Amino acid sequence: MRRQLVAGNWKMNGTRASVAELIRSLCEQAMPVSVEVVVLPGSLHVSQVVEGLSGSQLGVGAQDCAVESGFGALTGEESVEQLQDAGCEWVLVGHSERRLILGESDEVVCRKFAAAKACGLKPILCVGETLEQREAGQTLEVVGRQLGGVVSALGISALVDAVVAYEPVWAIGSGLTATPQQAQEVHAAIRAQLAREDAEIAEGVRILYGGSVKAANAAELFGMADIDGGLIGGASLKADEFGAICRAAG
Ligand code: G3P
Repeated sequence: MRRQLVAGNWKMNGTRASVAELIRSLCEQAMPVSVEVVVLPGSLHVSQVVEGLSGSQLGVGAQDCAVESGFGALTGEESVEQLQDAGCEWVLVGHSERRLILGESDEVVCRKFAAAKACGLKPILCVGETLEQREAGQTLEVVGRQLGGVVSALGISALVDAVVAYEPVWAIGSGLTATPQQAQEVHAAIRAQLAREDAEIAEGVRILYGGSVKAANAAELFGMADIDGGLIGGASLKADEFGAICRAAG
């Protein structure tokens, strides 16, 4: 049985004051013990969030990491060791905003994934197609390539304890959610791709759905066979809404 996981990606939001308020409200939420809950603040707020949530069941992660492990010279970046030292257990890699706006390639994403694994941080590998790619019938090919790059470079064992997040780009922040059936089709294809390498590892990998998840649509999405939770953007900034989404996963 895979434990459901709900992660809140706070993106580039928050001030020290608003983050303090969000932490306070999150601590008041009843979170189901059966669900693993993680928040991903901006890196400036990681230490504040780690401290504020200590003693709660919520874990903390980062939204990105440097490609290289170790404290090398890479101005402006944060290494996986620094993130771990600050209290992160998780890190997102390959979010579509980084792939599309900053031009992060599959190769860069793969190096970040490898750096996270090497240091013991749990990577959440984001994959997903654009609207044009979906309309051109390329969804499974695009997602398969994004995932396949990591599997062929690092081997299927790199996926043990890792998480994949399927986020169709057209559903992010748009209010348009993939239907549970559309999402399930891609999640099943991701698991089948992994199963061709190792059926047992594939069965254990958690695959999250992200893209305009709200309290109102979460239960239906999370009820699908291969959807093991969600990666939540906008709705994770409202403690009540995020708490309700976590409860829908329980
Ligand atoms: O990483 C989560 C994200 O991209 C989804 O954002 O605002 O559509 O829930 P949102």
